[in-house]
Amino acid sequence: MMHEVYMRRCLELAQKGKGNVSPNPMVGAVLVHNGHIIGEGWHREYGQAHAEVNCIDSVAVEDKHLIPDCTMYVSLEPCAHHGKTPPCANRLVQEKIKHVVICNTDPYEKVGGRGIQILTENNIQTTVDVLEQQGRWLNRRFFCTQENKRPYIILKWAQSANGIFAPYGNKRHQISNAFSNQSVHKWRTEEDAIMVGTNTALADNPQLTARLWQGKNPLRIVIDRSLILPHNLHLFDRKVNTWIVNDKKDEMCNNLNYLHFDFDESMLDNLMNKLYEANIQSVIIEGGAKLLNNFIAKGLWDEARVFTSDKAIAHGLAAPILTEATAAFETYLGKDKFQLFVNNNSEYQYAGGMEL
Ligand SMILES: NC(=O)c1ccc[n+]([C@@H]2O[C@H](COP(=O)([O-])OP(=O)(O)OC[C@H]3O[C@@H](n4cnc5c(N)ncnc54)[C@H](OP(=O)(O)O)[C@@H]3O)[C@@H](O)[C@H]2O)c1
Repeated sequence: MMHEVYMRRCLELAQKGKGNVSPNPMVGAVLVHNGHIIGEGWHREYGQAHAEVNCIDSVAVEDKHLIPDCTMYVSLEPCAHHGKTPPCANRLVQEKIKHVVICNTDPYEKVGGRGIQILTENNIQTTVDVLEQQGRWLNRRFFCTQENKRPYIILKWAQSANGIFAPYGNKRHQISNAFSNQSVHKWRTEEDAIMVGTNTALADNPQLTARLWQGKNPLRIVIDRSLILPHNLHLFDRKVNTWIVNDKKDEMCNNLNYLHFDFDESMLDNLMNKLYEANIQSVIIEGGAKLLNNFIAKGLWDEARVFTSDKAIAHGLAAPILTEATAAFETYLGKDKFQLFVNNNSEYQYAGGMEL
């Protein structure tokens, strides 16, 4: 029970790295001595120190002598390889920590059990799988990339009270309110990539940036099979790296990357594979209906975030309908209803915690 209390704190700390650590996982750690937390740390930024090291370094000078008598709680198996930083497992051995409690083992092939092996070989007691499901949900983007060799896929859309996605006529029409819109911008800072279909690019001229929140902009991806989109659209403003998926050419033009794909049944799978190769851990699909429906029809999605407004639209394009989905979380932003759905076949099931 106490293990869970401290592990919950690790998961809380880990979340502080959201949006800054990809393609690494979010990790938090605490050092506990006789029921008192004497150190806390988390992985703050990709390429920088890991949670365990930040945790040990946070211990006050007068408490340093207590470290060998501590239990370390950490939300992911300590690493065992020389990457951008030295192996954390070795540091724990050096510090002579007596017990390490771990939430998730690391699926990354260079770690995969070796971190734990180093600890046990050095007589450090290990306990694993504490709040395992919560840890997998928190790091679902990382686990999905490691285990399925594709990014974690989030579908997102807004619909009217009567299930309409957009009025006919391919014109921009704001369905959700300002609160929902701001949440969407926050989410954009948390994902590595964002994608829209051709008609949405034309109708909405979206920027797909995170202007209403502080953080990084995701890679933009637009489908433009026959290269018909005019270059005065925001998507071509070169402010953000942008992939233009087409069947005409492969060409890099500053930060506009034209990528040639065969537009057959496997196009979306091949695109996801290309994203995986580019170290992209997550992609949020922001419409339109055709593109979303294509992902749904293939079962190629992990979670869906849906806003439903309190206003009806008389006629228009029907909103996508999810199949094999479980409603996991629901709340209101003003009068907009927000619902989170999880794909029943996804290996990453909701385990609490949804920040809007
Ligand atoms: N309510 C919302 O949350 C929301 C969000 C975004 C957009 N919208 C609205 O939705 C409308 C546009 O939606 P839409 O369904 O017409 O179009 P869309 O999904 O944005 O674009 C569909 C087009 O993309 C191209 N495409 C190529 N490969 C595709 C693939 N594998 N899957 C899907 N599309 C592919 C096709 O064009 P070609 O046949 O020319 O190749 C297809 O007609 C607009 O009115 C926009 O304002 C609403």
